[in-house]
Amino acid sequence: MTKQSDSRMWGGRFQEQTDAFVEAFTASVNFDQRLALVDVQGSIAHASMLNRIGILTSEEFDSIIQGLSKVLQEIEKGDFKWSVQLEDVHMNIEARLTQLIGDAGKKLHTGRSRNDQIATDIRLYLRDEIQACQQLIRQFQQGLLDLAETHADTIMPGFTHLQVAQPITFGHHLLAWFEMLERDHGRLADCVKRMNIMPLGSAALAGTSYPLDRNYTAELLEFDAPSRNSLDAVSDRDFAIEFCADAAICMTHLSRMAEEMIVWSSAQFNFITLSDRYCTGSSIMPQKKNPDVPELVRGKVGRVNGHLISLLTLMKSQPLAYNKDNQEDKEPLFDTLDTLQGSLRAFADMVPNIQVNKEAMYQAAKQGFATATDLADYLVNKGLPFRDAHEVVGNAVAFAIEQNKDLSECSLQELQYFHTTIEQDVFEVLTLEGSVNARNILGGTAPEQVRLQIKQCRKLIE
Ligand code: ARG
Repeated sequence: MTKQSDSRMWGGRFQEQTDAFVEAFTASVNFDQRLALVDVQGSIAHASMLNRIGILTSEEFDSIIQGLSKVLQEIEKGDFKWSVQLEDVHMNIEARLTQLIGDAGKKLHTGRSRNDQIATDIRLYLRDEIQACQQLIRQFQQGLLDLAETHADTIMPGFTHLQVAQPITFGHHLLAWFEMLERDHGRLADCVKRMNIMPLGSAALAGTSYPLDRNYTAELLEFDAPSRNSLDAVSDRDFAIEFCADAAICMTHLSRMAEEMIVWSSAQFNFITLSDRYCTGSSIMPQKKNPDVPELVRGKVGRVNGHLISLLTLMKSQPLAYNKDNQEDKEPLFDTLDTLQGSLRAFADMVPNIQVNKEAMYQAAKQGFATATDLADYLVNKGLPFRDAHEVVGNAVAFAIEQNKDLSECSLQELQYFHTTIEQDVFEVLTLEGSVNARNILGGTAPEQVRLQIKQCRKLIE
């Protein structure tokens, strides 16, 4: 007795229907339909190659192309009926294609497996999405440079241990953020370099007996090369882990910026004001304006770090080659992309539009003896060894604390009590402007350096 044809694409050897719960439990279509566009791109390239090597006739090829573009239209319009019975994006699309064009549709999967197909799809997808992340980083960096230019001379306290350390320029601080993002951008570029290898043609795991022209397919899909080892190609998810690691580092950077903005916008600091459209109020305390966006971004690092650990754990101890475990790579990956892109988009718009309270920054820099190091440097110029100068200034600071005034408010006579070489010109050194201007060295905080750095940074991101 022959069995009735099975609606499941792999149903040939099965006697029993899949349990409905298991069907839903194993299906990925609810989340991998996000790959529809790249899945079709991959299929078009594969079909072109099959046509080129004579496995598909030109008529079959043409009808596959037409069928696939109809499928895409349906998906874009929201008319496509995704079916959990068809398990994943690949089989949903192929089934609809065959429904539309008949037997030619059934030939598309020649020399291909879902294992090399999915490994190719995610790479294609991630490649584009990483580029989008990089563009957002560039946009954010651009905004930072513009704001840094406006604030090349704006003085604020620089901190170590969150204690006032030395005066710096706000432009200099913003350029530090720029550098973090520049490394993030570079890391993503590195990730794409290793990722841009094409698994297609590896088939299920061992390669295929059809004489596929893998170089041609790779060229069509703009991969740098076809993969060398089919077992590795279908099972490797390093690129996904790598991307999540890059994203976790970038999110960590954003959380550091977030933290500073949250502190700076508090009433105690009052250095900056965030635009109303990035804040919300409290339902009970009428006076509140909460920095929700930076807080959320700070919080979202948690999920991205979690996704990185998920992927590492997913791959740990997996034997070669493809295993169904790998289907679990998508949700963490997609959520990482959404989170990173959302956070970058928010910051790229929010940060360049912050209002800066220069006066509050300046006053804060005057607290905490930010120019004490300058006094020590002054004494070194007068011939004291640095350690001795450090000691002298320490004594002077203790005196000033006792008198409840800044070093610059001490009289010359008072200062001379700590060291006789101190002269009238010390007061120039003790000003905030004198302090930042003195650090006119490559990488330093002086306004002149900041302007120079901005020029170099602009060239870098051109
Ligand atoms: N949905 C699967 C995944 O995401 C596609 C590959 C399935 N391959 C298989 N042999 N079951 O990994």
